[in-house]
Amino acid sequence: MEIVHTVAELRARLKSELIIGFVPTMGNLHAGHIDLTRIAREHLLVHPFNLAATPGCVVVSIFVNRLQFGPKEDFGSYPRTFADDTGKCRAAGVDVVFAPTEAEMYPVPQHYLVEPPAIQHILDGAMRPGHFRGVATVVLKLFNMVQPTVAVFGKKDYQQCRVLDNMVQQLNLPIQMVLANTVRAEDGLALSSRNGYLSAAERLEAPQLFAALSKLKGNLIAGERNFAAMEADVTAALQERGWKPDYIAVRRSDDLLEPSAADKKLVILAAARLGATRLIDNLELMLGE
Ligand code: PAJ
Repeated sequence: MEIVHTVAELRARLKSELIIGFVPTMGNLHAGHIDLTRIAREHLLVHPFNLAATPGCVVVSIFVNRLQFGPKEDFGSYPRTFADDTGKCRAAGVDVVFAPTEAEMYPVPQHYLVEPPAIQHILDGAMRPGHFRGVATVVLKLFNMVQPTVAVFGKKDYQQCRVLDNMVQQLNLPIQMVLANTVRAEDGLALSSRNGYLSAAERLEAPQLFAALSKLKGNLIAGERNFAAMEADVTAALQERGWKPDYIAVRRSDDLLEPSAADKKLVILAAARLGATRLIDNLELMLGE
């Protein structure tokens, strides 16, 4: 495995690679991130451009992107565990880790920005102004640096997946987007770098967010369609347990807009604060005919 820090080194290393799988991260890697590297490799092996069925080249980027953090968010304290991360990548069979410095990524102030459409202002975007602009901008830059054949993102960040998938489609980027299922701890908690902020007691409580989403999913499958009432019930139940929910929302999975009773492809999205830690999670569901 090679570790490169500059765009020039990256391009030199990737020049002769025919197919490249890419997993962008902010580091502090856990089993969810590592699963994305496995999925990247799987997709390379069966990619139509891979005529000789070579393993291809899997690239992981590690870059804590200041542009997507609000002024009061955890950019400064975001966990940076580079040695541990590269060890995990090596063990997982990753070929290249690209870890640019801030000066390499943003040598001059970034004035050209990717401005996603209205979807950037709802749900997480409403709580985190400018967040998805920062994400889309850095991911487009990373795409241009790595020039991947396949890029893998986790559905744990559902709105991010929608924003980036739309960007790739609307800007005709020649990249196959793969959206991977959320990896969870045994008790249901979605793996996240921010879980490390939880106290022992909070860690015990944290799976209740997934439990609440699962209960709401059960109610939808049972035929309930009063979305607002169901969202309010879950919000109140979490509040009673000491959570501060930002939103609990049943949405159409394609565009994250509010569903009508006839919509079948849904996702339940949640963001809630437990103590000082903000957790997000979601659950997709397809209602039967
Ligand atoms: P980060 O939070 O490090 O996540 C990197 C990738 O891992 C994202 O695609 C995210 O959805 C995925 N991921 C996180 N937890 C997961 C889990 N439990 N199961 C499966 N996948 C999971 O998301 C970002 O970084 C940044 O916004 C980035 C795209 C790198 C741009 O800066």
